[in-house]
Amino acid sequence: MANGIVVASANGSVGMEAAVDVLRSGGTALDAVVAALALVEANPEDHSVGYAGLPNMLGQVELDASLMEGKGLRAGSVAALQDYQDAAQLARSVMEGLPHVLIVGEGARRLAAETGLEQKDLTTTESLEIWKSRADELSEIGSADDGYYNHMRDLVKRMSSDPQLVDAHGTVNFLCRDRNGEFASGVSTSGWAWKYPGRVGDSPIIGAGNYCDDRWGAAACTGRGEMAQRCCTAHSVVTFMRFGMSLEEALTQAMIDLKQLDDPFASEMNIVGLDKDGNPGAVSSSPEKTYVVMDESMSTWDERERTTVQIFA
Ligand code: GLY
Repeated sequence: MANGIVVASANGSVGMEAAVDVLRSGGTALDAVVAALALVEANPEDHSVGYAGLPNMLGQVELDASLMEGKGLRAGSVAALQDYQDAAQLARSVMEGLPHVLIVGEGARRLAAETGLEQKDLTTTESLEIWKSRADELSEIGSADDGYYNHMRDLVKRMSSDPQLVDAHGTVNFLCRDRNGEFASGVSTSGWAWKYPGRVGDSPIIGAGNYCDDRWGAAACTGRGEMAQRCCTAHSVVTFMRFGMSLEEALTQAMIDLKQLDDPFASEMNIVGLDKDGNPGAVSSSPEKTYVVMDESMSTWDERERTTVQIFA
């Protein structure tokens, strides 16, 4: 029997103990990941995921999420979901109840209603205040022609240094191996704050923000999703391990691959990984970034520093 283990981005700490409790009671890696994601999605203090996530350009909260199982490579995702907090649970419904992988927008909302999820206003006083603090800058913008590109480029430059905006491109990742040695991975996000309506990031894209294969391990991303989409970053990490790299080498190589991107919006990128033997690791393009780890032998989660990999000149 394997020692169950859970790895997450630092904002996943609110779900770690619940995830390990699921493993201790014999639950699957997928059960653990979904339970943990639900707690982050419900956390009003996290403005990058679920309830209280920061809205898009029009003030609408649009959620993206995905799940993947390492045995059989089953996957399910939702994108641009409005009015429902439980994006990960809905991704599970896609995976288990439909012959599809990714359901977006109105279809996702329809499925949420059909599966009995609770409809709710996803904004809070605080999330709207943060959104409004920059919405004035965007208020003149009615279309992509009105300067949205330049406004967003300025905003993205400021996001990394302004503590109030730090959640503006956040996301949560969970990777898990259960007692049977089977893996699951999950990602949930409200995506970029002030994003263009309908914008979908890497989080619900299997291979970009999330990938998992029992034979080689798992990886998931936070940060600028368009970069992970263009380099298939999560899949790259798993593939690099498949072809013999250690987890640390695979994570580093996947970050180095991002350097080639011609991207005026290039910003922070982070990856968490779990190798096939259950060893965790994580990298970031920014110094002093952390991630969290907890296995069944631990009474609570441990916060660890990520390896920093420079991707900007
Ligand atoms: N990585 C999350 C996003 O770009 O939406």
